[in-house]
Amino acid sequence: MKEVLVNLAYLVAASLFIFGLKNLSHPRTAVRGNLIGSVGMLIAVLVTLLDRRIVDLPLIIAGLVLGASIGMLLALRVQMTAMPQLVAIFNGLGGGASALVAGTALHEAVSRGTVPDTHLTTATVASGIIGAVTFFGSGVAFGKLQGLIRERPIRYSGEQVVKAAVFTVSLLLGALLVAGPDRIYLYWLMVGVASVLGVLLTIAIGGADMPVVIALLNSYSGLAAAATGFVLQNNALIISGSLVGASGIILTNLMCKAMNRSLLNVLFGGFGEVVSTEEDIYEGKVKATTPEEVALILEGARRVVIVPGYGMAVAQAQYAVRDLFNLLESRGVEVEFGIHPVAGRMPGHMNVLLAEVDIPYEKMKELEEINPTFDQTDVVIVIGANDVVNPSAQTDPKSPIAGMPVLEVWRAKTVVVIKRSLSPGFAGIPNPLFAMDNTLMLFADAKKAVQDIVNALKET
Ligand code: TAP
Repeated sequence: MKEVLVNLAYLVAASLFIFGLKNLSHPRTAVRGNLIGSVGMLIAVLVTLLDRRIVDLPLIIAGLVLGASIGMLLALRVQMTAMPQLVAIFNGLGGGASALVAGTALHEAVSRGTVPDTHLTTATVASGIIGAVTFFGSGVAFGKLQGLIRERPIRYSGEQVVKAAVFTVSLLLGALLVAGPDRIYLYWLMVGVASVLGVLLTIAIGGADMPVVIALLNSYSGLAAAATGFVLQNNALIISGSLVGASGIILTNLMCKAMNRSLLNVLFGGFGEVVSTEEDIYEGKVKATTPEEVALILEGARRVVIVPGYGMAVAQAQYAVRDLFNLLESRGVEVEFGIHPVAGRMPGHMNVLLAEVDIPYEKMKELEEINPTFDQTDVVIVIGANDVVNPSAQTDPKSPIAGMPVLEVWRAKTVVVIKRSLSPGFAGIPNPLFAMDNTLMLFADAKKAVQDIVNALKET
């Protein structure tokens, strides 16, 4: 009877996870979605704690208090711009925890003298391999996003053979463990080899493809949790792990589409190093401008498109951008926002920042929608964006971002780019847009630059 009630509670929790995910798919309902999902998780955790097999309740509560305090501290203190790093850590810890729990469960079963069956050991092997790849892969992703490891892909000859060999060795160790589950040392050896695989897989991926990798690692962390759910025979963990795995794969697919890459290409593709140097592209061709000149140009504009990027987030310029938007609209100018799916450092980054300052959703246009309108646009203001407006994605087949759909801002009459210098964006490559005839560079911090434009506009 008790088991029926526990499973019923898990069913309620699972339904809440699904409703939560559904609500998370739109910024308007995302906060509600988060809350619904959290309630589901609370039910799942409480019901699991009622399980009599859980012996050390004080230790679990101590873990909960410690984990919740660290989580709360991180959530309160982390900058919006460092969110992807935080997500990378969360993914990694999820994978690492799954591998440790599965290994411990095997250890416990063997020391009790029960020989785990093939199903259980296979799930343990899956959890160990995927969990270790996730933990170490996420560690490298964190390092790249935090600037601790160089963003350019680390490639070497025979790379794919090395990775295939390491993967095969981890599978072989897993197979040996399934054949003889009491040889626990094989599990930790397998985890060690899979950890090397996690590092090798992620160091080979360039900075520009990081969004895909983060989404994929997220999916892996879910799969590892689901496998651990089979090990522990816990339905809530199987369901929630599968949901994370499936939604992570959907997000990976969306990110691949946004970058115009196949997943295989991201994981194993070998994009060349950049051939053109910054001097070739910029020397003598870049034109600097001032807030006053931009205000004068905006005076005569009828249609303006604002393209935000990572720099807007760094400068926290969204409030100033809202003031500019309101001022232009009050003067009868048609203003829209062009949002690239990988602008910033996390999916929906720009939408969240703009929604925070009450920019209407219908003003935020996706890439496919805004690109055909640039021909009829008088002024595009690029605010702290770089890679997402880089024409070399279309013109240079060797570029690390070759083939990635970009916002074709250069089609507008005038392009104003606000950034502090000519330094590259996340992909680490020069941007020919900055040297185009119709581009003006406003070198300044995004918040200050937009505020200065607003002030100058008010004076005209
Ligand atoms: P980026 O290409 O990274 O360029 C951002 C630009 O902002 C930089 O060139 C920088 O130039 C400028 N900037 C920084 N701080 C600024 C400030 N305070 N004021 C003004 N400008 C400032 O950004 P993007 O165009 O948004 O492209 C996103 C990139 O991140 C893509 O390569 C994408 O693949 C990658 N990425 C995306 C995600 C997701 S899911 N969105 C996750 C990981 C990686 P200065 O230093 O000269 O100012």
